[in-house]
Amino acid sequence: VSQEHAWTEVLKCPYEFYAGLHADDPIHELPGDDGFMITRHEDVVWAARHPERFTSRRIRYDELDPEAAEIAQAGYPSPPTVVDNDPPEHSKYRDLGFQAFSPKRVQQFEPMIRRLTDELIDGFAERGRVELMGEFCRLLPMAVICEMLGLPRDDAADLTRWADGRTELLQKYVPRERALELQRLEVEFEQYLGREIEARQASPRDDVLSEIANTTPDPAIECELPHRVAMVLMIVSAGTETTAYALGSAIWLLLTHEGLYERVCRDHALIPRLFEETLRNESPSQWSQRRCVIDTELSGTVIPAGSRVLLMFGAGNRDRALFPEPQEFDLDRPNVKRHLGFGAGPHSCVGAPLARLEARIALERLLARLQNLGLEGPVFEPWWVESTVLHGLGELRLRFDPGASVALS
Ligand code: HEM
Repeated sequence: VSQEHAWTEVLKCPYEFYAGLHADDPIHELPGDDGFMITRHEDVVWAARHPERFTSRRIRYDELDPEAAEIAQAGYPSPPTVVDNDPPEHSKYRDLGFQAFSPKRVQQFEPMIRRLTDELIDGFAERGRVELMGEFCRLLPMAVICEMLGLPRDDAADLTRWADGRTELLQKYVPRERALELQRLEVEFEQYLGREIEARQASPRDDVLSEIANTTPDPAIECELPHRVAMVLMIVSAGTETTAYALGSAIWLLLTHEGLYERVCRDHALIPRLFEETLRNESPSQWSQRRCVIDTELSGTVIPAGSRVLLMFGAGNRDRALFPEPQEFDLDRPNVKRHLGFGAGPHSCVGAPLARLEARIALERLLARLQNLGLEGPVFEPWWVESTVLHGLGELRLRFDPGASVALS
C-alpha cells in the first residue's frame, strides 16, 4: 500500500485515527521527515494564532520539478499575498482583495444566490430523484462565484476543471505525468484570470472582479497583476469545492440521523446550526500547512524549527476535551461555533460569511421544495472522495416526491 493510498484511506474516515492521537500522541511526527500533525483543539488554535512561530510563507514543501517549472513560466509568478503570507502584509492583501466578502457586503448577493439555487432545483424537481453532488452541490458555489466576480456562466465548467486541478496539485503524491498536466491547467487558469483582470483595468464594470482589478493598495505592499491574479485564483479555488462538500455533508448528516430531517423541516431556523455542526463533524478542509520557524513546545513535544506542520482542523473538531461525545451529530451543542471548520487565527476563512449565506439559502430551498427527501436505495454507503486535502462526498443519490415543488420568487 503506497503512502498516498494509506493517507487517502485514512482521510475518508479519520476519526478513530484522530482519537488515538488525542489520547497518546497529540503532536504526531509523520514518517519520512514529513513533519508534525497538531491534533488537539487548543494546540491547533494556538499554532494558528502564532504566525511568528508557524509561518505561512513559502511553505511549499517540494521544489517544482524542472519541467513543471518551465511550464509554469507561461503563467504568472505567484508572489505571496494572502494564504502564503504572514501578518502584517497578509492583512493588507486581505483588506485589498476580499472587501466584497465581508458579512455586510455578502448580504447584497442573497437574491442572486436564491435565484441560482432555484434554477438548479428546477432542473431536477420534477424527476423525484437527483444525484445531489453533481447536479447541485458542485454547481451552486461556482455559479455564485461567477456571478459575483462577473465571469460568464459559460466559463463555469472550465473554472471548475481548473479549480479542481489546483486542489489535486496540492496533494503531495501526484504521479509526475499528472502533475505536469495539472501545471498546464494552472497556467491556463492564470492566463484566463490575467486577461479578465486586464480587461477590467482597461474598462471597469459593475462586478467584484473590477473592484479587485482596480483597488489602490496600501503603499506598503506591492500589487501588480500577478498579485491580483493570485488573489482571484484563491477565491475561485478555495470557495467552491469546499462549499460543495459542506452542502453535501449537511444533507447527508441530516438524512442519516433519526428525527433530524423532520425537526429541521419543522423549524428552518435550525439550518445555520445544522451547517455549523456539519463543519465540525465532517470538515471539508481537514488540515492546513505551516512551517515552524522557532523550536516550539506543544503538549510536551518540541517541534524543531524548519519542520513542516499540519494544523489538523478536522482533528481539533473531534477533540473531546472541548466537544463531549465528538462523534455525535448534535444540533444542540452549545459551543458548536468554536469549531475549526473555517480555521482559526489570522488566516481563518475569509469566505465564511459567503459560505454560511449560501448554505442557509441552499438548505432552506432544498427542504422547502423537495418533499419527503430521503437517501435513494435501502442501503447507502457514503463514498468519500479520494483526496489527501479535502473531505466530502463523491456522490449523494436522493429521492423525493416528484413534482411537489414550487419555486417561490
Ligand atoms: C464551507 C466552505 C468553506 C470551508 C470549509 C473553508 C475552509 C477554510 C479554512 C479551514 C481556511 C483556513 C486555512 C488556513 O488556515 O491555512 C480557509 C481559508 C480561506 N478561505 Fe475558505 N472555506 C470555505 C469557503 C470559502 C469561500 C466561499 C471562499 C471565497 C472567497 C473562501 C476563501 C478562502 C480564502 C481566500 C482563505 C485564505 C485566507 C487567509 O489565508 O487569510 N473559502 N478556508
